Amino acid sequence: MRVTRRTTAAGATAVAFVMTLAACGGTSAGEAGPSLRTHTDVGVYTWWAAGVEKTGLDALAEVFEKQHPDIEFVNDGVTGGGGSAAKDHLQSRLENQDPPDTFLVHAGAELEDYIKDGYVLDVSDLYEKYGLTEAFPKDLIERLSTDDGKIYSVPSNIHRANVMWANPTVLEDNGIDPSARYESIDAFITDLEKLDQAGVTPLSVGTTWTQVHLLETVLLGTLGPQAYNGLWNGSTDWTSAEVTAALENFKTLMSFTNSNREDIDWPDATKMVIDGEAAFNIMGDWAVSAFDEAEMTLGQGYVAVPSPGTAGSFDFLADSFTMTAGILDPESTEAWLQTISSKEGQVAFNKIKGSIPARTDVDRDEFTEYQRMAIKSFEEDTIVSSLAHGAAVPVAQLNAISEATRAFAGPSGHQDVARFQSDLAATAG
Ligand code: GAL
Repeated sequence: MRVTRRTTAAGATAVAFVMTLAACGGTSAGEAGPSLRTHTDVGVYTWWAAGVEKTGLDALAEVFEKQHPDIEFVNDGVTGGGGSAAKDHLQSRLENQDPPDTFLVHAGAELEDYIKDGYVLDVSDLYEKYGLTEAFPKDLIERLSTDDGKIYSVPSNIHRANVMWANPTVLEDNGIDPSARYESIDAFITDLEKLDQAGVTPLSVGTTWTQVHLLETVLLGTLGPQAYNGLWNGSTDWTSAEVTAALENFKTLMSFTNSNREDIDWPDATKMVIDGEAAFNIMGDWAVSAFDEAEMTLGQGYVAVPSPGTAGSFDFLADSFTMTAGILDPESTEAWLQTISSKEGQVAFNKIKGSIPARTDVDRDEFTEYQRMAIKSFEEDTIVSSLAHGAAVPVAQLNAISEATRAFAGPSGHQDVARFQSDLAATAG
């Protein structure tokens, strides 16, 4: 087996090589080291480097090694929920001609710049070869396809972003009915106030990207699906009174959150609900795996419902993988794409990840009660695209929205809704 450097000789001296992760671990963005790699492996770049996310990736790697025993899976990624650190780091690797063989990217607008810059290859032929056009739902194929009908990534799963998780014991102890569903954000705020007065943390949240996640669900819950979609296609005016109302709601919700929010990522924010330290958390349904891991059952141990005001909408995102341009061994990468799109790969991965398979032809009895609910909702609800998870806007716009959110709600945030609204309006270009 020939060992080779991943980068071209040209520019190699200028390149900050990134240490390939051992299959068992993750590293922080920015750690450098030589990237010695072989022709018969596939370097898979994700931010699933810890906890239940890593367990899901391990399950996928196990299926890969079974299906392709001659190719080694190399865990090549960085930590940071939602890809908060991974995306900048990835960009510098791509610019420095040190591309991962395949990288995790959200289906939808997030792919646009990578396509424009020529960093990813058209994989439409694999859709034909592996029968994926028939196996994946039409809505998903549409979100994956460019205007000229090409597809640049293969999805492993579909997540729902607009889920509210609650601890029923904390709710009952404070006179709140755990079976209550909030049709509006106003009704939700009434109960948050009650919890606050009782000295309980009403709502847990984490660092900036999780706040943007909360913001997206509040925009959806206040505006409704059509006007929410309009924020991304230009038909909803960011400076309108409806958006002001949504941002006021966001400000109010943030005022009921934990004070250590800037120091924690989603697992700790969700854990506050698991441990009974907070009543509610709004997070994508990767969080269900944390409840599963804590051996809590849906209904008794935890509540999972659409976030306030969003019943009937499925706030969609899908994890997908690329065939990166300029790599040494496209065949090994094709093998990875084959595994993640196979029935066996999708079942093994999604059982742990909490998401639903992108394929529609898998046996739903393999999945939990929560996942069966999500499958049904994906089939029946209005599908909208997630902001925080790359479905709605390209990376640069999300970065600008995240900066505006941090300036508003982050450490020493200005808390001025009018200024926040005009900053957000400016991101729409
Ligand atoms: C999302 C990703 C999920 C999960 C989450 C938290 O962006 O699509 O699979 O990893 O971030 O890290």
